[in-house]
Amino acid sequence: MDCTAAIPISRRNLLIAGASATAAVPLSAEAQAAATEAAIVSSVSLEVNGTTRTLEIDTRTTLLDALREHLHLTGTKKGCDQGQCGACTVLVNGRRTVSCLSLAVMNAGAKITTIEGLGTPASLHPMQAAFIKHDGYQCGYCTPGQICSAVGVLDEIQRGVPSHVSADLTAQPLLSAAELRERMSGNICRCGAYSNIVDAISEVAGARS
Ligand code: FES
Ligand code: FES
Repeated sequence: MDCTAAIPISRRNLLIAGASATAAVPLSAEAQAAATEAAIVSSVSLEVNGTTRTLEIDTRTTLLDALREHLHLTGTKKGCDQGQCGACTVLVNGRRTVSCLSLAVMNAGAKITTIEGLGTPASLHPMQAAFIKHDGYQCGYCTPGQICSAVGVLDEIQRGVPSHVSADLTAQPLLSAAELRERMSGNICRCGAYSNIVDAISEVAGARS
């Protein structure tokens, strides 16, 4: 007897049946509770790139998602979404912050600067101009975070904040390549543009000092 003739089934039907079976698996009690838990919505005001923005958002919303999904400032990138790549770095009250690890409501009233607020194509921030001049990027995905972080790094050095490689914790930190590499080590570049990034930051640091 020809079994395949008796039960005609195509690959497409098999996939649909498999997907249906998966969807029919009942959720655990915990998963059902989590899925039906009502969001707590709160009003939060942020000063983003010089403009006060007020949002009604789920209190679990990260600063990164508030910027990208609610304010449509997509210059700030989501890489790992768990604090490991630096792609989402923005400046919060002048300090660099990985926005994927910070809830928007924690930043109520804060001054947030994203890559869109640093400069414009017609009037670039010196760090943006230096990244272009020194080819400090290839695909560009990490670049907004790198530039925001670099601006924060120079401010940290100027304020005398030591790093892991500072030999003397009480002395003014040096503007050395080692210092810049250490301080920028939280910003990952899969294209490997690190040397050119250090060149760009060094140029801006030299111009400032
Ligand atoms: Fe925030 Fe990677 S997306 S550190
Ligand atoms: Fe491509 Fe950095 S320029 S990841």
